[in-house]
Amino acid sequence: MSQVKSPLVTRNYRPETRLVHAGTLRSQYGETSESLFLTQGFVYDSAEQCEARFKGEDTGFLYSRFSNPSVAMFEQRMIELEGAQAARATATGMAAVTTAILAPLKAGDHVVAAKALFGSCRYVVEDLLPRYGIQSTLVDGLDLDQWRKAMRPNTRTCFLESPTNPTLEVLDIPAIAEIAHSGGARLVVDNVFATPIWQSPLALGADVVVYSATKHIDGQGRCLGGVILSSEAFINEHIHTFLRQTGPSMSPFNAWVLLKGLETLAVRVKQQTETAALVAESLAGHPKIAKLIYPGRADHPQAALVKKQMRAGSTLVAFEVKGGKAAAFKTLNGLKLSRISNNLGDSKSLVTHPATTTHQRLTPEARAELGISEGFIRFSAGLEHADDLIADLNDALALA
Ligand SMILES: Cc1ncc(COP(=O)(O)O)c(C=O)c1O
Repeated sequence: MSQVKSPLVTRNYRPETRLVHAGTLRSQYGETSESLFLTQGFVYDSAEQCEARFKGEDTGFLYSRFSNPSVAMFEQRMIELEGAQAARATATGMAAVTTAILAPLKAGDHVVAAKALFGSCRYVVEDLLPRYGIQSTLVDGLDLDQWRKAMRPNTRTCFLESPTNPTLEVLDIPAIAEIAHSGGARLVVDNVFATPIWQSPLALGADVVVYSATKHIDGQGRCLGGVILSSEAFINEHIHTFLRQTGPSMSPFNAWVLLKGLETLAVRVKQQTETAALVAESLAGHPKIAKLIYPGRADHPQAALVKKQMRAGSTLVAFEVKGGKAAAFKTLNGLKLSRISNNLGDSKSLVTHPATTTHQRLTPEARAELGISEGFIRFSAGLEHADDLIADLNDALALA
């Protein structure tokens, strides 16, 4: 929960404007750029004021584990961008995912999630929750019947990513929200791959949105961060106290970097999406490629759904090189411009081999079920010129 409101409410402006101005708290010096409040704690004018703050009778900051002006600016900017009522920032994307899922639940509750999840998200749902007496069922996220059948009287949370990491499947958020709600559960959406620029899960019926701010929101490879966005009721009842008492807080320094990242988010994501579409176009029909997946193309398996719930495709392209792991590794090793990394959303183009990195923890059968073959490569478009990236990919593919 942000403790101080922005003096300029930007909700009526367009997203690009909100990204530059929302949440700014100016000090008495009237600085142009947001201040970095690199402080652990705060001092009080009197013992009475200190007591009133702890009682919640006096608004103001207490301790940076749970409230800090730089972090509050980041939270407020995300609130206004996403159209949420409230938000809490976290140290990493995984802290946001884990908190959003775990904090409202107790032993005996049940979670339904799509099986196509980032490896750590899948660990939380599949391995961690059952250790605390919370059962989970993984379904094929594209099959609405599987969602319906998996619901139980004690199902409290449904969880999905869309587009999925790394196979870029697009899941029907309004339909899954309806299934969750008719069973008395909430829907939590990890919107990392879509970005807040191209998809607004709350407007599509989701109850909670989570981000790894590490990805496009920073977008320049500097800081880790995460954020949970939802209603005032959800954040106040389930998230605020959990974060305050357990402590996976965002550092004020990271909040400041991420605020500056937000200022250029729309410009970067639009450019990176344009580049990704050009890269996808150049790879389509390439003789070394067995399969190409890009949510912005007419041949994407959920192309109609992409049009319905997203404003554009993606900054990511996925493809399968013929010849399995050996060919995929030759391609990665042959790249001079795009760099091998398990990260994404950066201004530098990055390529990932999910089977040996982000999804190596899964069994070969589980990877096969998700379509993550040994030849599968995830490409995250950066801000380089598309022609240079395409030439680099073609050179590398010639070696495969
Ligand atoms: C879809 C998705 N969710 C969550 C995360 C976790 O984010 P972080 O690395 O900031 O903890 C990642 C990537 O790491 C991701 O790709």
